[in-house]
Amino acid sequence: MNDRFLKACRGEPTDTVPVWFMRQAGRYQAEYRMLRQRYELLDLIHDPDLCCQVTTLPVEQLGVDAAILFSDIMVPLGPMGVSYRIQEGVGPVLERPFRTADDIAQLRPLNGTQGLDFVPVAIQKICQQLSAPLIGFSGAPFTLASYLIEGGPSRLYVATKRMLWAEPKLWARLMDRLSEMVAAYATIQVQAGVHAIQLFDSWAGALSRQDFDRAVKPYLVSLVQELMRLHVPLLYFSVGAGHLMESLADIPLDVIGVDWRHPLGEMRRRAGGRTLQGNLDPVVLLAPWETIEDSAAEVLRQGQGGGHIFNLGHGVLPATDPVNLRRLVDFVHHQGA
Ligand code: CP3
Repeated sequence: MNDRFLKACRGEPTDTVPVWFMRQAGRYQAEYRMLRQRYELLDLIHDPDLCCQVTTLPVEQLGVDAAILFSDIMVPLGPMGVSYRIQEGVGPVLERPFRTADDIAQLRPLNGTQGLDFVPVAIQKICQQLSAPLIGFSGAPFTLASYLIEGGPSRLYVATKRMLWAEPKLWARLMDRLSEMVAAYATIQVQAGVHAIQLFDSWAGALSRQDFDRAVKPYLVSLVQELMRLHVPLLYFSVGAGHLMESLADIPLDVIGVDWRHPLGEMRRRAGGRTLQGNLDPVVLLAPWETIEDSAAEVLRQGQGGGHIFNLGHGVLPATDPVNLRRLVDFVHHQGA
C-alpha cells in the first residue's frame, strides 16, 4: 500500500511529497462526463459499483497518492429529512430553507446506516481494489448549516449570520445536531475502512475571526475530540480562511488545507507545526504548462520545512486538461523527492 499520504498526515518523513486533488473525480474527465450522460450525480453516489469506478479512476489515471470517496457533503442530510437537489453549475439547492425552531426540530438524527447503506458497501469495494489510501469526508457543521439556512449557495451568508447573532439558542441546536451527524457519519466511514477523514468547511472563511471563535470553533473542538477516537488522521479544509489559521492551529487537527490566496510558508509559521495541504490555484491548470510548472515549483518551495501534502487550493475545474494533471503529479513526485 502506498502510505506516503498517511505518513505526511502524521508528520512523518516521506520519500517524496504526496499529492491528490480535491474534485479529482469529476467533469474534467471524459469517462466521468460519459457516465453523467447516463446517470445523475446522486445515482453515481448511491450505486456502490459506479461509486467505486468513479473513485478509483483518478488514482489509476493520474497516479495520485490517495483516493477520496465519491460522494457529496449533502448526502448524509438526506436521511436526516432534508430534501435537496444538486443543480449543475450551482450546487446544492433545498426545497425549503431551515430558518425556524420548527424547521430545526424536524431534523432527525442518523439511525445507524439507515438510508446510507450504500456508503459502507462502496467503501469496502473501493478498499479491496485500491493500493492507495481512501479519504472519507464530511461537510463540517458550519458549511452544512449554511446550505440548510440559505437554501443553497450564498455570497454573503446573510441568513446564516443573522441566525448565529440573533438566535444563539437556535444556532446552538442546529450546530449540535449537525456535529452529532458528522461524528456518526465519519464513524460509519472509518468502520467500513476509510484511512482518513477530511472535514470540508468550505465557507467558514466568510466569518470574522471573532464570529468563528464564538459560534463555530467550540463545535469543531468537541467534534474533533470525538473524531480522534476513530484513530485516523483528520484533515480540515476551508476557502479564504487564512485569517483563521491561528485559531485552527489550536484544534487537534492533523492537517490543515490552505487555499491559493495564502503562501504556505507564511501559513506554516502560523499553523503550529501542522502538516499543510495545498495550494496551487486551480485556475493555473488552464495556463500553459510552463506556468503550471513554475507555480507548482513555488508551492513546493513554500511547502518545505514541515509536513506538506500537495493539492490545489480548491477543486479541479471542469475545463482542466487531464494531461496537465498527470504531468503535475509526476512533477510533484519528481521535484518533491
Ligand atoms: O473527487 C472528489 O473530490 C470527491 C467528490 C466530492 C463531490 N463533492 C462530488 C461532486 C466532494 C469531496 C464534494 C464535496 C462538496 N460538495 C463540497 C466541499 C468541497 C468544496 O468544493 O468546497 C461542497 C461545497 C459541495 C457542494 C456542491 N456539490 C457543489 C458546490 C457542487 C458543484 C456544482 C457544479 O455543478 O459546479 C456540487 C456538485 C458536485 N459534487 C460535483 C461533483 C463531482 C459536480 C459534478 C456533477 O454535477 O457531476
